[in-house]
Amino acid sequence: MHLLYLVSVWLHILAATVWVGGMFFLVLVVVPWLRTGDRDLAGKFLRETGERFRSVGWVCFGVVLVTGSFNLWVRGVRWSSFVDPRWLGSDTGKAVLAKLTLFAAVLIASAVHDFGIGPRAARAIERDPRAPVAEQLRRRASVLGRVNAMLGLALVAVGVMIVRGCPG
Ligand code: HEM
Repeated sequence: MHLLYLVSVWLHILAATVWVGGMFFLVLVVVPWLRTGDRDLAGKFLRETGERFRSVGWVCFGVVLVTGSFNLWVRGVRWSSFVDPRWLGSDTGKAVLAKLTLFAAVLIASAVHDFGIGPRAARAIERDPRAPVAEQLRRRASVLGRVNAMLGLALVAVGVMIVRGCPG
């Protein structure tokens, strides 16, 4: 069982790394570079790489959800814990609730970005990168992407707190 737990934590951290790392590569490297380059190609590039990273991202979400649930189970967390005021008031309970709330926010923001605003922005940029609607959608997609990147950082921080305890 211990080996299974170690493999689960390893897969959990790997999936978290691929998703958080991928998002920061997009936000800090790809998007700024696209702004300096050929804008006509930008839409096609964003759409094609965005679709690829979308698949990678949702696979990562599936992996962290399954391994995260197993990690919680190994740590003794059960459905009954979520109605136990003593556990809910404990550092672990607070960290787990914060993590699940952040994860729900990431799923909602990612769904809106990946299946709504993102593809619409890429298509509008591909049609006419200088059109006001393309600029508006690009800005919205960019803001949502950055919000998600910040949520990702918070998820890593709360993951560390589950393992090592909360500050103070
Ligand atoms: C994108 C979402 C997520 C990210 C980026 C993430 C990130 C991390 C990281 C980096 C750690 C390792 C912390 C350390 O060893 O110090 C961790 C641990 C942990 N995470 Fe997540 N996580 C995510 C989603 C989830 C979800 C959805 C759950 C629960 C269903 C979860 C439950 C846990 C648990 C229980 C641990 C402790 C593992 C152990 O026992 O050592 N995580 N997480």
